[in-house]
Amino acid sequence: MGAARVAVLISGSGSNLEALIRATRSGAAAGEIVLVISNRADAFGLERARRHSIATAVIPHRDHPSSAAFEAALHAALVDAAIDIVCLAGFMRILEPDFVEKWRDRMLNIHPSLLPALPGLRTHARALAAGALVHGCTVHLVRPTLDVGPILVQGVVPVLPGDDAATLAARVVGLEHTCYPLALDLVAGGTAVVDGEIVTAPPGHRRLVLHELFETNGQAAGPIRSTAPDRPCPTPS
Ligand code: GRF
Repeated sequence: MGAARVAVLISGSGSNLEALIRATRSGAAAGEIVLVISNRADAFGLERARRHSIATAVIPHRDHPSSAAFEAALHAALVDAAIDIVCLAGFMRILEPDFVEKWRDRMLNIHPSLLPALPGLRTHARALAAGALVHGCTVHLVRPTLDVGPILVQGVVPVLPGDDAATLAARVVGLEHTCYPLALDLVAGGTAVVDGEIVTAPPGHRRLVLHELFETNGQAAGPIRSTAPDRPCPTPS
């Protein structure tokens, strides 16, 4: 049997797409990326795909009268290309349940938080606002509810003193490029088993990636966040 045929759906830069292309081409991840679809004609990821001689398609959502019509066009393009697995990588459209169910257990998404914490947008700013000590990314199988689905791989980064949303985002994205290929490998290689919405994989398949700032004992090499509060915590009377 040949390699699983993979389509990557993007809307923007496509740095995760690039990581997936490199990993599959080098043999680090199972699967072959044969199609890149964008809903935006100006997505830089399309240029990345062309540089690697991968077929591209632009399916603008605005050209369709409804989400259902847009997703029917998307589905037709995927079926035409005999796609086995779909990777959402910075694809900024919410997909309707009908479409999601057609690709059940065959569609992956990467989300920039440690799900189930922080679904939705602006995850880095929200992690900082909550005083989180760790943050990260999750690659999961897509289910009809946004940012919910069986977790394949997670990457954890420390939140450092002085971080803002941009520095934290850059640290997370760096880890995304390791996590997404690991997750695709689990699905395209047929090693992930989904049972009751929990993923299991045989020993030897890495599913947790810690940022290099963590030492092997799980502690950060430097201070994660200031441990001295501006105001002391009130003591119970
Ligand atoms: C990433 O942060 C990913 O977590 C989110 O969208 C961003 C895509 O970045 N879903 P890129 O287009 O892969 O560079």
